[in-house]
Amino acid sequence: MSTSMNRRNWLKSSALFAGGLGFSSTLSINYAQASQQVAARLYAPYDDEEALLSGMPKLKARISSNENPFGPSKKAKEALMGEIDTSFRYGRESKTEFSQLLADQFELTETEETRWGNRPTQVMLGAGSTELLLAASIAYGQNGGKILSAEPTYMSLIRRAQSLGAEWDTVPLTKDYVHDLDRLANAVSSDHSLVYICNPNNPTGTVCDPDELRAFCKEVSKKKPVFIDEAYIDYTADPKKYSMADLVAEGYDVIVTRTFSKLHAFAGLRIGYTLAQPEAIEKMSKYSNSAGNISSPSAAAAIASFKDTAYQEYAKEMNQKSKDFLIKTLTDANYDYIPSVTNFMLFPLQSNSEQFRQDMLKQGVSVRSWSFSDQEWCRVSIGTMEDMQYFAEAFNKLA
Ligand SMILES: Cc1ncc(COP(=O)(O)O)c(C=O)c1O
Repeated sequence: MSTSMNRRNWLKSSALFAGGLGFSSTLSINYAQASQQVAARLYAPYDDEEALLSGMPKLKARISSNENPFGPSKKAKEALMGEIDTSFRYGRESKTEFSQLLADQFELTETEETRWGNRPTQVMLGAGSTELLLAASIAYGQNGGKILSAEPTYMSLIRRAQSLGAEWDTVPLTKDYVHDLDRLANAVSSDHSLVYICNPNNPTGTVCDPDELRAFCKEVSKKKPVFIDEAYIDYTADPKKYSMADLVAEGYDVIVTRTFSKLHAFAGLRIGYTLAQPEAIEKMSKYSNSAGNISSPSAAAAIASFKDTAYQEYAKEMNQKSKDFLIKTLTDANYDYIPSVTNFMLFPLQSNSEQFRQDMLKQGVSVRSWSFSDQEWCRVSIGTMEDMQYFAEAFNKLA
């Protein structure tokens, strides 16, 4: 044992010695290779990590998780750094300020007195909206819950509710791949515990007509709570008009959840929020950590990003430019697509979607595959122009 220890030490010191004698370039290449490997692992989408590790080519374009590659905004980054020095504290202040900012923005006036002052009771913060979807899935899915939603839709809340024994009733999308609100309204029954609407919908990228959805929410929420997942609402032409957040202020039993992971580019910083009636917030907050999972630098950055409307416009513009390029790529190859108001797009394939996904991955481009309505589909996230060019190159070899 001591021999092997000595040998290891000898190897270590001779490497250092070699570096000192002018072999530092070899060492730095090794370092660069090692850090590249770490980076490949860090940036690999979790579902493709295994493939990457088993010898797939390096990922050139990661366009599978609907992230926003144009941010976070400069102001958000400055705020994040500015909060680091005081982050040895639990950081109540920035989270309280963020809750209040949201309450003011959405005109939510209900408060309760706590030992730290007044607190809005219609706002709940989470480290990303997944935490909030999880809290809702427990609150409305346990003890014989039954969720009603469109299909296909975003499955996070539904899958978790199902794992607790909840049932799931579905209504297909219309022929234009939007929510069929009439059929959904007719399908609501006394044994449903929650109606889940993802608007804009993932994976289709379509948005409901705001007047129709508002009328639906007003009617249905008299019978059952309506949960609107607005993860992509910031990408719509007029988020205020398309959002159902105003119905919370009007007192309807509507639960609106939003995330900073998309337009604000906070997927790694983890910020989400829910707006709902105080009773609904109380019911769900039993299953969340009351903003305790959010770091104070992330909350400070969220405040800055929320106010930075210039950045939001910039990110939307960049998204549109890349999306236009994608549309041209698809139409030039005689492919159809579902018009999307979001930072991703779904298009029908003429071959097996899983095979297509793997063939794209072999060329270093990660996308998502879907299969519904007797059709195979590919979902592409809108990346930088360079990402979209990599997509086009790989796609044109398969199209
Ligand atoms: C519709 C929808 N809701 C919620 C989420 C969860 O996002 P996050 O947990 O990053 O806020 C996603 C993520 O892609 C999504 O597509």
